[in-house]
Amino acid sequence: VPHLLDVSWFTESMSSGRPVNVEPRHNLKNALEILARSAFFQESDVRYLGFTRAASTLKALPYKLQSVNQAKDLPWCGGHCMIVIQEILEHGMCREVEVIKNNEHYQTMELLTGIYGVGVRTAQRWFKEGIRNLSDLKTMECKLTAEQVSGLRHCKDLQQQVTLEEAERVGQLVKDTLQRFVPDVHITMTGGFRRGKEVGHDVDFLITHPNENALSGLLEDAVGWLETQGLLLYHHLKKRKPALRSASSSMDSHETCYAIVALPSSSSPWNTDIEVKKCNSEDAERIAHPESPNSLNSRTWKAVRVDLVVTPQAEHAYALLGWTGSKHFERELRRYSLREKKLSLNSHGLYDLEKSCFLPAQTEEEIFLHLGLQYLPPSDRNA
Ligand code: CTP
Ligand code: MN
Ligand code: MN
Ligand code: MN
Repeated sequence: VPHLLDVSWFTESMSSGRPVNVEPRHNLKNALEILARSAFFQESDVRYLGFTRAASTLKALPYKLQSVNQAKDLPWCGGHCMIVIQEILEHGMCREVEVIKNNEHYQTMELLTGIYGVGVRTAQRWFKEGIRNLSDLKTMECKLTAEQVSGLRHCKDLQQQVTLEEAERVGQLVKDTLQRFVPDVHITMTGGFRRGKEVGHDVDFLITHPNENALSGLLEDAVGWLETQGLLLYHHLKKRKPALRSASSSMDSHETCYAIVALPSSSSPWNTDIEVKKCNSEDAERIAHPESPNSLNSRTWKAVRVDLVVTPQAEHAYALLGWTGSKHFERELRRYSLREKKLSLNSHGLYDLEKSCFLPAQTEEEIFLHLGLQYLPPSDRNA
């Protein structure tokens, strides 16, 4: 029996009768993700969550969905999602999704929220002001935040995925930088790469040390040094706010550095052993002024988003769990903890609402034990 989704097939466009393009095979999950993003752009949280959950269910499915009957008993796939699934299984496409894809608001929101530093609210406001493309944005650069200016300036690089090989080189750079100041600092790559993904939109790191004092001022030092090397294109340092470590807050208050680094290309002279000191002044100039015309043809670096998070040892396991993701996995895990166990989980700790106390943990395994859940390795958290 041929798999319905294994063949590329034509279908008549339901509205116009025109033949439509061959749809990619795995368009079910894509379709639901487009509906989720469209809801997100309209700030409709309930619909956003519903479509995200359905897409996540399909992603986790060990077999290819071939009939509506198979979909009936899947969690989160009822109602609206079922109609979408049925339409795609029967016609290879879903009219609602096609309409969204061609919608000017959706397209503009995709473009604008794709820029680092631009959230839904901002994109929404710009759309209302008539902004439709990047040149429109450049005309109002004076109104942008420093973060958005950097995001716009480096958007070509930042929209390209970061490869595992690049992430490892960022890791080496981060390690060499931090070890200048604290030789025995502990660094863990978190985020998507820890979950085994081969590409990402940024590289995330967790930084800790048994002696909390060793960590104080470390990010400032690291930032200062990277700056003198011309390797820092943008950064925003967020100080730790201990008051936020409350039982209910889902806000993350770790000391964090959101940065854009200029990652030297693997063929560039510095990379051999990340002896960045060796970079000559001409290279440093090129990095410091990426827009300068003579650098355009001979770029030896790529702008890469990097998140550096510092945690005291006592919170490290919770920060590791929280920063490994995926975002959807974290959201569902926190919801489960609260609803089923009356435990409030965030990336600082786990608070027992009935006993009014924090539950300490040294490892992720211990946290899963507290939650009464079977341990899931990072590679099983790609929800
Ligand atoms: N996170 C967080 N607080 C933030 C930003 C991120 O706790 N201020 C968490 C997210 O919930 C996520 C993890 O850190 O679980 C990594 O976030 P992010 O880098 O955005 O996503 P990745 O899963 O790494 O995916 P990508 O490849 O797109 O970077
Ligand atoms: Mn990431
Ligand atoms: Mn992301
Ligand atoms: Mn990140």
